Amino acid sequence: MDHIITTEQLTKQYKNFTSVNHVSIHVRRGSIYALLGPNGAGKSTTMKMLLGLTAPTKGRFTIDGKQFPGDRLKILREIGSFIEAPSFYANLTGRENLDVIRRILGLGQNTVEDALELVGLSEFGDRLAKKYSLGMKQRLGLAGALLGRPPILILDEP
Ligand SMILES: Nc1ncnc2c1ncn2[C@@H]1O[C@H](COP(=O)(O)OP(=O)(O)OP(=O)(O)O)[C@@H](O)[C@H]1O
Ligand SMILES: [Mg+2]
Repeated sequence: MDHIITTEQLTKQYKNFTSVNHVSIHVRRGSIYALLGPNGAGKSTTMKMLLGLTAPTKGRFTIDGKQFPGDRLKILREIGSFIEAPSFYANLTGRENLDVIRRILGLGQNTVEDALELVGLSEFGDRLAKKYSLGMKQRLGLAGALLGRPPILILDEP
């Protein structure tokens, strides 16, 4: 079976509290995989570990054949992500916010318009982020994740 994400006994411990307990998942390439569980179950923590935003206490994972932590930067190049409530520069427009991400990723200029269109925000690209409605901010977050159309998307509360 062709797995794009494999975790082995992934564990996150905060002092004496275990947030993620020996999680081994296998995500098939091209599939949609959902983490379901009650509040505090450890879904966000698991996704943060996959993105290198918090270090696993134990266990390991491989994404598209690349092993964490050695290949961390290569892994990040392949993932678009949206974790909880993404933050934006309030005094930049939606389009400018996406352009900041685009430059960091070294993507072509057309990727910003493509992402705006994909999430239905083309019409509001020139509005300041602080003037976006909640749903428009969520869309902008999705546009950021979709920038450059990465092969893997990790979305938390999108
Ligand atoms: N920085 C931290 N320090 C200590 N405990 C933490 C920390 N971050 C998360 N936790 C705890 O780890 C557990 C899992 O949190 P997590 O955010 O992963 O849950 P979740 O499944 O995403 O929940 P929700 O559905 O509410 O988003 C919770 O009990 C939380 O309080
Ligand atoms: Mg969560």
